Amino acid sequence: MSVARMRRIVGFVAASAVGLQSVPTVAHREAAFHLEVKADQSGPKISRDIFGQFAEHLGSGIYGGIWVGRNSPIPNVRGIRTDVVQALRAIRVPNVRWPGGCFADNYHWRNGIGPSAERPGTLNPDWGGVIEPNSFGTAEYFDFLDQIGADAFISENVGSGTVQEAADWFEYMTSDKPTALAKLRAANGHPAPYKVKYLGLGNESWGCGGAMSPDHYVEEMKKFDRFTRNYNPDQQAPATAMKRIAVGWDSGDSDYSDAVMRAWKNKVWSWDIEGLSLHGYTIPNSWERKGPSTGFGEDEYAKAIRATLKMKDWIVRQSAIMDKYDPDKKVGLYVDEWGIWTDPNPGTNPGFLQQQNTLRDAVIAALNLDIFMRNADRVRGANIAQMINVLQAVILTDGPKMVLTPTYQVYRMYVPFHDATLVPISFDPGNYASGDIRLPAIDVLAARDTSGRLWLALINVNPNRPARIAAAIDGVTARSATGEVLTAATVDAHNSFDRPDEVTPHPFTGHASAGALVFELPPKSIAVVEVR
Ligand code: AHR
Repeated sequence: MSVARMRRIVGFVAASAVGLQSVPTVAHREAAFHLEVKADQSGPKISRDIFGQFAEHLGSGIYGGIWVGRNSPIPNVRGIRTDVVQALRAIRVPNVRWPGGCFADNYHWRNGIGPSAERPGTLNPDWGGVIEPNSFGTAEYFDFLDQIGADAFISENVGSGTVQEAADWFEYMTSDKPTALAKLRAANGHPAPYKVKYLGLGNESWGCGGAMSPDHYVEEMKKFDRFTRNYNPDQQAPATAMKRIAVGWDSGDSDYSDAVMRAWKNKVWSWDIEGLSLHGYTIPNSWERKGPSTGFGEDEYAKAIRATLKMKDWIVRQSAIMDKYDPDKKVGLYVDEWGIWTDPNPGTNPGFLQQQNTLRDAVIAALNLDIFMRNADRVRGANIAQMINVLQAVILTDGPKMVLTPTYQVYRMYVPFHDATLVPISFDPGNYASGDIRLPAIDVLAARDTSGRLWLALINVNPNRPARIAAAIDGVTARSATGEVLTAATVDAHNSFDRPDEVTPHPFTGHASAGALVFELPPKSIAVVEVR
């Protein structure tokens, strides 16, 4: 079928066409799109670290969300809750950035080692001014990573810590030689050195990490970089070596990225970085009045989607700065904090950043993951903020109860894209308009997984109209496509402890027609399918 003919296809279908038995259906005029998948070509590899998580000592992100203590009635293994571990294993979390965030620049690691009863209570001044019991420290973090099968991403304290303190922590964690610090680690129960895949050289040093000027940060960063050594014998080869990520752009001002990359370009042998960070939050309205996390309609939905699509421009701008100093793309871009940030749930401590998670947020997650994957030649990692109970969480807990959010479902559906290879595609995303807001109506991404199977991620942003996507798959005789679709009756639909399956994936198929695969996507939905 010709492209022109496919573009002319406009029909009328019911939103129930694809196995959404539990979703109320309304007949809507569908929009038609043509997609060309160049399945005989391939692009860059998509690092699985794009699907990373971020867990900060903030609200109940750690305490209650991960750590319940060994004596808790909530089922746990060495204090780490079992239900959460099982859920996180299912989405194959590649790495967890810890201990912050702003908290990292207040964190003194010696408070979090050794016998639990002897650990001091300290303050968490950034997040609610609560007591930090330090029960979850280095050993518990690595135990948690082992239980979920993830790598370590440690953000070190450049703001209020010393270079010596940071150097000591990394010697404590990674040395296999019998130094005093390695012996202390062994005495604390872990004779073998830990592996640390990523080192964050500070956090938002332009803000909560010390409000440093770009040039001042660069001078500090170089010292921390030089003296924070990873001694693990398994991490001495280039392929396994720890990757160091400097603080970059805050999505508002590019001077940090420029200063760090300029310094990197002119660096001497004694320091290096493999990554530059970008933090970019989706703020539907303004920082002062962000907007509610539930109880909103199409207007608020469209504003949030418009806000989240800024990520594309941020990555383009940061990549351009990086290209200027690093045309060979040696340094990766790490979006190590991103996600929707709304007003806190009414009645909760505002310092705990607790918000509900809706179908809108699932669309936001999928759009951002697509942006990261599409830019996989430069974007080598991303960490959603934050894993449990904070901001755009994948899991919510309340005492013994746990619920998986719509954003979690996207992470589960997107597992085939971990370490996949991008496949070039072309499509016209069309338009979805809400008031004076104009947005692309659809988004699509194609990739081959590590076994060579072809996968498509299809998003219908439009909350009112189904989308009919006819996909021509070049170089492959595609007969069918099967997978799952995530949608719900309203844009603010969410899973609660009482109704945990309001927003849950359903089976979804595409059918072959006139040489193309045809997908009937319901309004406001995300589908992931394997093409056969
Ligand atoms: O994720 C919440 C906070 O947002 C982090 O602590 C900080 O780095 C950012 O400003």
